[in-house]
Amino acid sequence: MKDRIVILDFGSQTTHLIGRRIRERGVYAEIVPGDSPVSEWLDGSVRGIILSGSPASVHDEGSPRPDSAVYRQGLPILGICYGLQVTALMQGGTVAPSDTREYGPAPVKINTDHALVEGLSRSFISWMSHGDTLRRLPEGSVEIASTSQGVPAIVSIPTLSFVGLQFHPEVSHTESGGAILDNFATRLCGARRQWSVENYLQQLEKDVRAKVQDKPVLLLISGGVDSSVVAAALLKTLNPDQVHLMYVDTGLMRKDESREIGAALKRLGAKNLYLVDAEERFLTALAGVTEPEEKRTIIGDLFMTVQETEVLNRLPGEYLLAQGTLYTDLIESGDGVGRGANTIKSHHNVASPLVRTKREAGLVVEPLAALYKDEVRELGRLLGLPEEIVGRHPFPGPGLAVRILGEVTRERCEILREVDALYIQALRDAGLYDEIWQAFAVLLPIRSVGVAGDQRAYGEVIALRAITSRDGMTADVYGFQPEFLRNLAANITNRIPQVGRVVYDCSGKPPATIEWE
Ligand code: XMP
Repeated sequence: MKDRIVILDFGSQTTHLIGRRIRERGVYAEIVPGDSPVSEWLDGSVRGIILSGSPASVHDEGSPRPDSAVYRQGLPILGICYGLQVTALMQGGTVAPSDTREYGPAPVKINTDHALVEGLSRSFISWMSHGDTLRRLPEGSVEIASTSQGVPAIVSIPTLSFVGLQFHPEVSHTESGGAILDNFATRLCGARRQWSVENYLQQLEKDVRAKVQDKPVLLLISGGVDSSVVAAALLKTLNPDQVHLMYVDTGLMRKDESREIGAALKRLGAKNLYLVDAEERFLTALAGVTEPEEKRTIIGDLFMTVQETEVLNRLPGEYLLAQGTLYTDLIESGDGVGRGANTIKSHHNVASPLVRTKREAGLVVEPLAALYKDEVRELGRLLGLPEEIVGRHPFPGPGLAVRILGEVTRERCEILREVDALYIQALRDAGLYDEIWQAFAVLLPIRSVGVAGDQRAYGEVIALRAITSRDGMTADVYGFQPEFLRNLAANITNRIPQVGRVVYDCSGKPPATIEWE
């Protein structure tokens, strides 16, 4: 059994980052719902517990509480923001609402030595986001660090093996945040650095074989990195005769994607490969639909319906459904982890009712469900996938439909496909493709006035997006040279006459998401 740090999630949008930061340091961390009973997750592999932040206030009615048994296990506990406040309250301290929500950078000064802050400079900038403040610390608490306003920033309650932070060490704005989490996991909890993608692959092989046994497995291939890595993993782990790969061409794919995918899958050693042309069905189902979540639901459900119809003739009897679901998909769909987590977008491989039914029947295999995107890439390389597949920018399951704002029509798909291909080619030509985490074009639901020759024109508007990111959970805008954008915009409007204007999206995530819908 490998050492684990368990993170109790109370719904904070940055909970996943806590796990990410700890795993980056080689220690395995796992997220479970904040209010789940200790008996659901505690075993001999747990070395420490982290209580996450929350959008709730401890004073809100029904705000989440950890199982009180958490404090009686003799395991080191780290409370982050809400995790500190809820502990203070449960242990006899006082927490009061602040006059204003404290949000942003806050200098912290260390007053007392402690293993949690070993190796850190005595003062650093932390990042805070809270509406409640600790007014009175529980009996026996030690204030290890405070802010310049004299507010407790790091608190220890030695009798409970508890340390609490008023700030968020998981966000990159907190200096030494990674070192604090590392100190907690390795110095206070003594967890060993046993997490690596190599180890994950060994476990994956065992788990997949045990779950699938000799039954057939069906994987829907999207052409993106995730499903390609799942395909490679299944082909390596199981008998290739068991592995059925289906590629549904929804008509919402990028230029030449369908052709390239067929070739790549054959190279992977696929024996049972089905290419289904479903463009007409998808476009008909999407006609007149403009609401983003409705689009996603329609696509997700139709995907499953097409797959079920297509599969019936080929796979009579019971089969398992493999999916390239990532950890982040589960979290963003408000599923899998904290009951209080908000749904940001429903990723269709998680939220579709059909997938839920399969899942309830225990017939879903998700070999990447514990991985973040960059870990998936590493796994793909380990499985011998070529760099052009592994290094490909992510592409959402609902495809171009969530990049065509407003109604999705064949003509609008065609315009966007052409623009996107010009954009990606320009990035490759300039040697920028691999520097950028994800780049794509978006077709806006408005038109704009322009001039074409001597005529007044009323053309389509394209937004270009390019971001850098580590795992898609947060993103920064990529800073192009103005010349690159100028030339690209001219190239697009010259070659695609329907487009009259090109704009660049300058929003990071948060507050925007990466996709526009
Ligand atoms: P957002 O837009 O949520 O995107 O900031 C984060 C990353 O996820 C991709 N994405 C999806 N991937 N199915 C997927 O497989 C989806 O429904 C979906 N929606 C967004 C997005 O392209 C980005 O890389």
